[in-house]
Amino acid sequence: MKTQIGIIAGTLAMLALASCNEEPEVPPLGTAQQMMAQEMQPTAEIYWESVGAASELIDGEPVFREWAPENDAEWEAVRAAAERIGELGEMLKTPAYAEGRGDDWMAYSQGLVDVSAQAQEAAIAQDPDAVFEVGGTIYSVCSACHRMYPPAELPEGASVDDIQQMRPGDELTAPDASE
Ligand code: HEC
Repeated sequence: MKTQIGIIAGTLAMLALASCNEEPEVPPLGTAQQMMAQEMQPTAEIYWESVGAASELIDGEPVFREWAPENDAEWEAVRAAAERIGELGEMLKTPAYAEGRGDDWMAYSQGLVDVSAQAQEAAIAQDPDAVFEVGGTIYSVCSACHRMYPPAELPEGASVDDIQQMRPGDELTAPDASE
């Protein structure tokens, strides 16, 4: 019995070693560009779009509308998006994505990990104002990294700050027609 346990433990140790020595780093979610477009942006949008406010003109009258998750399942989806942002931040710190980048790359990636924790707390507390506020912090981490590592291709006329189509607060300020 003892030897059997010994063999099993030995096998596990070898497996652990093998996974440490893995082949050249293969980015798990494709290039940084692919990961951003297919994972980071849609995930961040779930968070950003979960709460908001807008005024629209209905029959010439301004109508103010606010929205937020309405039940536990909807809040859980927001929390899960926040958690995923942290996982993506961790992934950005791995050599597959961090190779050849500076220390600031690590700092921005860690910034996503840190803000992910706050973002989850806000969703767990089911606090729309906190989600809105942390959403702004998430946005500033995204932009800080993009300013240092600008995307290779931007649509014509777009600036780095336009990468996110949607940011917290857009709807609050945009439709002000009085100015
Ligand atoms: C650690 C740095 C870093 C952080 C943090 C970061 N990004 Fe990026 N992002 C990049 C880089 C680098 C590119 C450019 C990839 C390329 O073009 O090669 C990029 C590109 C993008 C693009 C353009 C993808 C395309 O289709 O070309 C989007 C959208 C994007 N990021 C969204 C986000 C969002 C949303 C966040 C925050 C939740 C974020 N990024 C956080 C590094 C980062």
